[in-house]
Amino acid sequence: MAMRDNAAVLAARRAQATGGLSRRALLRRSLGLGLSLWLAEVGAGTLSVLWAAGASSLASVRVGTLDDLAALNAGLPVREGFPVYVADARAFVVLIDPAIAAFLPGSDPTGDGTALNMRALSQVCPHLGCRPNPCLEDRWFHCPCHQSRYDRLGIKPRGVQYGPADRSMDRYAISVDGDGVLTIDRTHITLGPLPIALGQQGVIPPLVTEGCQ
Ligand code: FES
Repeated sequence: MAMRDNAAVLAARRAQATGGLSRRALLRRSLGLGLSLWLAEVGAGTLSVLWAAGASSLASVRVGTLDDLAALNAGLPVREGFPVYVADARAFVVLIDPAIAAFLPGSDPTGDGTALNMRALSQVCPHLGCRPNPCLEDRWFHCPCHQSRYDRLGIKPRGVQYGPADRSMDRYAISVDGDGVLTIDRTHITLGPLPIALGQQGVIPPLVTEGCQ
């Protein structure tokens, strides 16, 4: 009698649905997880190859002559030294001395631009990476994120009232060929110099005090 009861209990237990994961379900889930990981890895690899290809195609950006830049940005005072955005280079090109009529041939690996009379400034704000915008009113750069400001050549004025960036805008190496065509070398970047007090040599005062508010 007792043996019959035990057999009945065992049969009832076997008939019950088991909790947790069966071995088959566990196997299926493991395979699914493995496949997802593999796909993620392949995707990341593809993206990194595409990124590298894009980056290398941007390593050297042919901008054109001063006439090209002025024509492309008609309406902006490019020849007066207003910074021009060059999207392919992710940079601003700005004349140092607006008196010149064309880019001077030569090369400038430091990006200072003094010899060539222009600078190519990185679009990346030295503070946290936003893109500063040149303002037509005061001819300074204004960063929209935390209000750092730079003169038209990318120099950061010293003082908390000019924002939190701790250095001036970074510069790319540049070269100009015999036809006056400017090329920006994005593989060589020089960090911008330390801020300069407004009123000292090396920082250009704004045209108006409350520009682009
Ligand atoms: Fe430009 Fe912060 S990112 S001021």
